[in-house]
Amino acid sequence: MDGNGRWATKRHLPRIAGHKQGVESLKRLVRASVQRGVSVVTVFAFSSENWSRPADEVSGLMDILVFALGREVSQLHQEGVQLRFIGSREALSEKVRSGLHGAEVLTATNTRIVLNVCFNYGGRWDVAQAAARLAALQEPITEASLTRVLSLAHCPDPDLIIRTGGEKRLSNFLLWQAAYAELYFSEALWPDFDEVALDEALQEYAHRQRRFGKTPDQVSPSHQSADGADH
Ligand code: IPE
Ligand code: MG
Repeated sequence: MDGNGRWATKRHLPRIAGHKQGVESLKRLVRASVQRGVSVVTVFAFSSENWSRPADEVSGLMDILVFALGREVSQLHQEGVQLRFIGSREALSEKVRSGLHGAEVLTATNTRIVLNVCFNYGGRWDVAQAAARLAALQEPITEASLTRVLSLAHCPDPDLIIRTGGEKRLSNFLLWQAAYAELYFSEALWPDFDEVALDEALQEYAHRQRRFGKTPDQVSPSHQSADGADH
């Protein structure tokens, strides 16, 4: 969810106003995703590296999280959203931790859509914590065993990863799970990323051919006609 700060700066507002608007954008996108039959949405809200931002921005982001949870969770619960927070909780304050825990407990049995909020998350952290868990259990480290103890073990790998804000990198997001994800980069700043922008991304995704290492013919033999020409 990149671009909140620039959205605010363009309007001569403090960066934190952009983060608040980012919450509104997230609410809209979750509803739009439910309507379009998406079963899992995973958002990157706060990275392990975001601690190095100015202290007032970091504390502002923590406050927005707690405030937004207090204001929105019962509505999300009614709409069937299962909330999960992905990331290390060790460095989070007691207030933040109890907010995350309360939201997870309340929504744990909802099945309409899973909303994973990556908070104090990093893809490298996830792989390392998974390997450490296996080592502690004295279990062999394999692709299958790691997949079982990674923080998103409750979800399939993402089909589509959308990055907003014009940057073209993953920035430590879902490194393991992104192996075969289709990547989509949007110039839109996150607060401007609306239903129309989502539909554009889904349209483009629908036209991608996902081969998972196979040849085009193996994946869709019908796209070649008898004359051998590619149609
Ligand atoms: C949101 O966008 C990402 C968060 C850490 C919440 P940014 O804060 O990175 O916004 P820009 O990139 O400065 O515009
Ligand atoms: Mg940014």
